[in-house]
Amino acid sequence: MAADFPRLRLRRLRTGQAMRNLTRETSLCVENLVCPIFLVEGAGRLEEIESMPGIYRFSIDMLEPEIKQVSKLGIQALLLFGVPHATDETGSGAYTENNLIQQGIKEIKNINSDLVVITDVCLCEYTTHGHCGVIVNGNIDNDATLPLLGKMALSHAEAGADMVAPSDMMDGRIGYIRKTLDAHGFTNLPIMAYSAKFASSFYGPFREACMSCPSFGDRASYQMQYTNSREALREIAQDVKEGADIIMVKPALSFLDVINRARSSFNLPLAAYNVSGEYSMLKLGSKNGLFEEKKVILEVLTSIKRAGADIIITYHAKEAAGWLKQK
Ligand code: PBG
Repeated sequence: MAADFPRLRLRRLRTGQAMRNLTRETSLCVENLVCPIFLVEGAGRLEEIESMPGIYRFSIDMLEPEIKQVSKLGIQALLLFGVPHATDETGSGAYTENNLIQQGIKEIKNINSDLVVITDVCLCEYTTHGHCGVIVNGNIDNDATLPLLGKMALSHAEAGADMVAPSDMMDGRIGYIRKTLDAHGFTNLPIMAYSAKFASSFYGPFREACMSCPSFGDRASYQMQYTNSREALREIAQDVKEGADIIMVKPALSFLDVINRARSSFNLPLAAYNVSGEYSMLKLGSKNGLFEEKKVILEVLTSIKRAGADIIITYHAKEAAGWLKQK
């Protein structure tokens, strides 16, 4: 007897898997992924980050096998972070001549010039106090930070970066960096703006990776509070007005709604940052037998894409690329 209620029957056929494939709405692909890379000063250094199993800091001379492997897996874009030896009050290691990131860009381009090299623009790894801006009278001074970010972005552009990604959340940084780049002939160099970056507990393992924990206070005076999504849209709108080419929501998992709202409100490419704590949760959970590693990671990455992200920055990039290849 036929049922007298509507049925959602696409999942129930004998040809179940094929029908599920046919009606799949979201497909994760390797082209969506950006792989973060941590660079350290010195030589012969390949250090696993304790809180992020499988993720390493590389000195420049140790990069080659990694870059070749990433390329072979079909990953097209990298995001570089620097972990310098020495820090100072104004983070000068971020923009001095021949700095760590400049060297890294050149080395990566030597190994594979087709890779899209994106650089993190933020002072926190380079300042003694670990904050993303300079300190004036005990406060993070937004406007005094802008020229330093401008110099940092320019130094990356000059070394051959394909895109700069300011992650500091100072107001006006996108406009300032855009003007600086334009004034030096880099009118075609795009900016990926960390537009809606929330003050989040999920950055914990990254701060170990970069040794960039604030020595006092927290980042709540410049990063957003996680209670707000309308504010995220205002932050994004501001960055778009200032010239952002790609907008970003960060972290990803506890902000899938914000990703989705950003997707429906803006037509720019949208990136989401699947941050260190999100990575470590799944890795440590899987190691402890709580999850099937491959399944849980692909589910999470696909959920970020389904929410609306075009680009996913993730420490899972290599393993996910490998799995997507097997499919
Ligand atoms: C710093 C920066 C952070 C991350 C990227 N850039 C940390 C922070 O704001 O404390 C976090 C990345 C991650 O957790 O994976 N500007």
